[in-house]
Amino acid sequence: MTKIDVLLGLQWGDEGKGKIVDVLTPRYDVVARFQGGPNAGHTLEFGGTKHVLHIIPSGIFHREKTNLIGNGVLIEPRIFRQEIEELEKKGVDATKNLLVSQKAHLILPTHRMMDAANEQAKGGAKIGSTLKGIGPAYTDKTARNGIRVGDILTADFDARYASLREQHLRSARTLGFDVEGFRIDGMTLAEYEKAWMESLETLKRFRFVASEYFINRCLDEGKKVLAEGAQAMMLDIDFGTYPFVTSSNTITAGVCTGLGVAPSRIGRVMGITKAYCTRVGAGPFPTQLDDETGHQLCELGHEYGATTGRPRRCGWIDLPALRYACMINGVTDLFVTKPDVMNDFDTVKMCTAYSIDGRQTDEIPFEYNTAPIVPVLTPFQGWKQSLAGITAYDALPERLKAFLAAIERETGVNIAAVSISPDRKDVLFKE
Ligand code: GDP
Ligand code: IMO
Ligand code: MG
Repeated sequence: MTKIDVLLGLQWGDEGKGKIVDVLTPRYDVVARFQGGPNAGHTLEFGGTKHVLHIIPSGIFHREKTNLIGNGVLIEPRIFRQEIEELEKKGVDATKNLLVSQKAHLILPTHRMMDAANEQAKGGAKIGSTLKGIGPAYTDKTARNGIRVGDILTADFDARYASLREQHLRSARTLGFDVEGFRIDGMTLAEYEKAWMESLETLKRFRFVASEYFINRCLDEGKKVLAEGAQAMMLDIDFGTYPFVTSSNTITAGVCTGLGVAPSRIGRVMGITKAYCTRVGAGPFPTQLDDETGHQLCELGHEYGATTGRPRRCGWIDLPALRYACMINGVTDLFVTKPDVMNDFDTVKMCTAYSIDGRQTDEIPFEYNTAPIVPVLTPFQGWKQSLAGITAYDALPERLKAFLAAIERETGVNIAAVSISPDRKDVLFKE
């Protein structure tokens, strides 16, 4: 039986998922997103050009491959339209190889307003949301109020839109939110709604499909399918650092609900981790460095959000979190990105356990947000050389290989490949 392979982030996002998906796409027939929405920012680089994708799967630049936006994804039509137009400018006509699930839910302009209203109401306890409307749209999905892509074509679409919009306006006013003063991309709500409605025409140019049948048929026919995760393990709604998480299941299990494939059809699970760690937005981050080293990681790694431009918090790689991620996701292959960022470091550290009130543990405690976690750090000698021009895993510096071997030992999972630059060509497979 052909199985679906999964690729997802093992930390707090931005591990380089988009880049690795782009590199692996030639090995697959279909690339499918299964959760999240325009909160994601997946960067691809080739031919000296950088491309950032938010809703569209990262296989889109391979014209002969099919890309699918699955039922578990949220689509914001205006952001979708902007992405499609960006691709058109680059000569990529996505109507040819992008399919959209009828069951994917829509993000309305008022979902984005509610995101802002909810964050404002939280005061000092803000999540640091990307404000793309993710939480409110998934809330409406589970509350059974949501509007799906397939609904755009039905007679009662306008009425349902108006009713949901009204509900959001009532809620925002109850929260004391300044609806009149609210702006999206510099537009008032009414102006943005007009642009949003017009963008539905772009969405309608795509094939809306029963993606669960499509995917299962592909697998039955022996086609190879890659499920592309967004966000990451530690932002998972159930197992992440709740409430500082996103609103979807970012884990392997999310592939089953976000695409309609049975658990028995899950094949390899490729987990992406940076050689260090970053987090954007609020929430716990035990290995965070608020010093010169943290600053260096941020600057050398260009750690600024691909979606919001916010600086990412930086710190050492966190093995307790990585082991947890491997357990929850059933990771079969690790991909390590960005060791090149630490090329000039004298010492590179790895957190191998947490010390909480003098007691060591390698488990993620329930009180993760409040526990006084002190990371137990193991130092490694830096490799102190450029990785530019290295084309084989074996040719990597011995000290870097020792660091990578420790990651394998600590997680019990083999490293499949290491990425040493943003460019598509710089991924070194181990065998
Ligand atoms: P994603 O959300 O997981 O797809 O990751 P992002 O695109 O948000 O962030 C990853 C960033 O790191 C992007 O700017 C990539 O171009 C860059 N990147 C990916 N892999 C590497 C690598 O191996 N080395 C370096 N220096 N940069 C990388
Ligand atoms: P990719 O796919 C990093 C973070 C936000 C915030 C929290 C909730 O590029 O790895 P949301 O908008 O979902 O309500 O925000 O999750 N977040 C991400 N951080 N990478 C992402 O996606 C993220 N998507 C959401 O910063 O803390
Ligand atoms: Mg990103």
